[in-house]
Amino acid sequence: MTVPRLTLNDGRSLPAIGLGTYPMDDDEATVAVAEAIRIGYRLIDTAAKYGNEVGVGRGVAESGVPREEIQVASKVRGSDQGYDETLRAFEKTRADLGLEYLDLYLIHWPLPRLDRYVESWKALVRLREDGLVRSIGVSNFTPDHLDRVTAETGVTPAVNQIEMHPVFPQEALRGANAERGVLTQSYTPLGRGRLLDAPAVVEAAGFHGVTPAQVVLRWHHQLGVLPIPKSSDPARQRENFDIFRFNLREWEIERISALAGSRYGGDPDTHEEF
Ligand SMILES: NC(=O)c1ccc[n+]([C@@H]2O[C@H](COP(=O)([O-])OP(=O)(O)OC[C@H]3O[C@@H](n4cnc5c(N)ncnc54)[C@H](OP(=O)(O)O)[C@@H]3O)[C@@H](O)[C@H]2O)c1
Repeated sequence: MTVPRLTLNDGRSLPAIGLGTYPMDDDEATVAVAEAIRIGYRLIDTAAKYGNEVGVGRGVAESGVPREEIQVASKVRGSDQGYDETLRAFEKTRADLGLEYLDLYLIHWPLPRLDRYVESWKALVRLREDGLVRSIGVSNFTPDHLDRVTAETGVTPAVNQIEMHPVFPQEALRGANAERGVLTQSYTPLGRGRLLDAPAVVEAAGFHGVTPAQVVLRWHHQLGVLPIPKSSDPARQRENFDIFRFNLREWEIERISALAGSRYGGDPDTHEEF
């Protein structure tokens, strides 16, 4: 199957779907990542905070697919914010993954009370200049956070990875990302698997002859967003990957976007995790 690619503001690109790895441990990640790569996934999402970078790196190595054909993303955790701290954290991430370079490196949360995310962003710019990271981005950033790092460095993040699913469709933040040329990646894209029985989803699945999870992931794709569903199960990994052979109708997308609900995770203006 051919997976479309999404172009970033730095001229690089990412495959239109990735594999999430939280909350896998090292052993689970090794097996799940190797399996996903064999299925066809070429983008793997991890983070220092997940404690599974060693396992993710092993999965990449054991997949049998050349490293340069795979894109690996990780994130700086809150306790490593700051310029020198981020450079040191990157070295540990790189060593744990067993990789020479990372394809994408993100600031995990802005932690505005700490007020160190600009310093971390400067470190990411340096890592990109040094060729150790191909693309740099952020996660859980509001438009204000995006504008501040851009104003202070002249470098706009390539990616903003945010919580998004049918009951939290993030229309405003998606628009703000797009206006700035920032690609939206969606985490918790399946609503942790809890949103798959909504009639808008189930009825679309029946019409298109696909599963509810495929409908939800296709909804992300048709909204121009890059989802990173997590599954440790090869059958579900395959299902989640196989979303490029049907088209939701416009009204189906709108009906799914209109499902009521709210975020499951933290509010970027106040959430603190280190
Ligand atoms: N940047 C951030 O702050 C942040 C925050 C949260 C998450 N993330 C990233 O985003 C990734 C995905 O988010 P998430 O794990 O919160 O939620 P998710 O991907 O929406 O849901 C994962 C859950 O859904 C189940 N599932 C997967 N495919 C399914 C299918 N086809 N049918 C039914 N159930 C299915 C999984 O179980 P099985 O494994 O058993 O299939 C798992 O329990 C994470 O793994 C992580 O990499 C980032």
